[in-house]
Amino acid sequence: MVAQAPSGKKPLPDMMTSIRIDKSGQVEIVDQLLLPHSVKWIPISTPEEAFDAIKTMKIRGAPAIASLAALSLKSTLSKCETFSSKSKEEIINWIKEKCDYLQSSRPTAVNLSEAMNRIRNYLSSYKEGEEDDIVEKVKQICQDVHEEDLERNMKMGKLGADWLFEQRGNENKKSLKVVTVCNTGSLATSGYGTAIGVITALFENEQLDTAYYAQTTPYHQGSRLTSLELTTLEIPACMICDTMLGSLFQHEDIDGVIVGADRVVKNGDTANKIGTYQAAVLAQRHNIPFMVVAPVTTIDLSLSTGADIHIEQRPSVEATQVRGLNLETGKLSVVRITPEGVGEGDKPWQKVYNPSFDVTPAELISCVVTEKGVAERKQGEKSIDVASIC
Ligand code: MRU
Repeated sequence: MVAQAPSGKKPLPDMMTSIRIDKSGQVEIVDQLLLPHSVKWIPISTPEEAFDAIKTMKIRGAPAIASLAALSLKSTLSKCETFSSKSKEEIINWIKEKCDYLQSSRPTAVNLSEAMNRIRNYLSSYKEGEEDDIVEKVKQICQDVHEEDLERNMKMGKLGADWLFEQRGNENKKSLKVVTVCNTGSLATSGYGTAIGVITALFENEQLDTAYYAQTTPYHQGSRLTSLELTTLEIPACMICDTMLGSLFQHEDIDGVIVGADRVVKNGDTANKIGTYQAAVLAQRHNIPFMVVAPVTTIDLSLSTGADIHIEQRPSVEATQVRGLNLETGKLSVVRITPEGVGEGDKPWQKVYNPSFDVTPAELISCVVTEKGVAERKQGEKSIDVASIC
């Protein structure tokens, strides 16, 4: 799939696409650990390869990992000749096992479990004697998971941009300053993006002044990936360190914070990249709208509050080491930024806390945007009726 450029611009280069599929059906991902310095495509043919790529964050972003998991299953089903000798029950059990396995690669982003549930639900509803070709049906579900992302992102982009402009735009203020966290663009999705989709739509409407984006330590999704997307799209943008958000709100007239999500639960509480919660606290302090933009597949109505969300802890090396371009050798290298042993030793002074996500309570969120609409938090209320936009 070609990454979506703002209307009127030419298609974007390959490094702006998280997943591509060639004419023979071979799935490849761009290794996001190497971006923005080097573009390397990795073939993914099996659920095992997809599991590894997702767990090691060669691909990341809630919708993109769901797409890759589904496509890896499709790819393996297309190649498995052994199925002809298996009973339908054996095939069903085999696929269900692969779904459970893929789902365990990263726990917080619900899009992955939602995609695997779609397959499992179909398999569970299948009744012996039905004509369905199970393998073909599952392959179709996998393809749908991948393809439906782009269109819904464009819808959310428009809905979110219109909502924010209605709040903040006026006769004197024709272009807005917004802030985002993490990476939510074409690299995190199948194209156009969620929060970045709203920023792109504002830009296309000529309603964007500047998109400020946080570096997003420790994995640097902002400085490595969002910066690549915004510079490629030529969207006016300014990087800030995560610690500068308060200062930015004090010194610039910011109109909105726009973030994506990994899981939005029934009351509107939202898990997203670590650093999102502090942005929401600061936004409330400065009376700035805080928007969550995510597809319906990110909404998890089975959990009542954010306290029920399983937050993934990442390995400490992702916080103690930094990957980048060595300006002396011109090569990519990894450097340790802590004293030796921090994060690895077992001494009480060598600990590292490295949760991948935090939970922003709904009472700090102004609205949640899905492809179905915008759910606003009503004045004085502590929750958001996200079921109304599912
Ligand atoms: O750990 P990551 O990089 O997978 O986390 C990604 C995020 O938190 C994104 O904001 C979220 O998945 C939404 S992406 C459209």
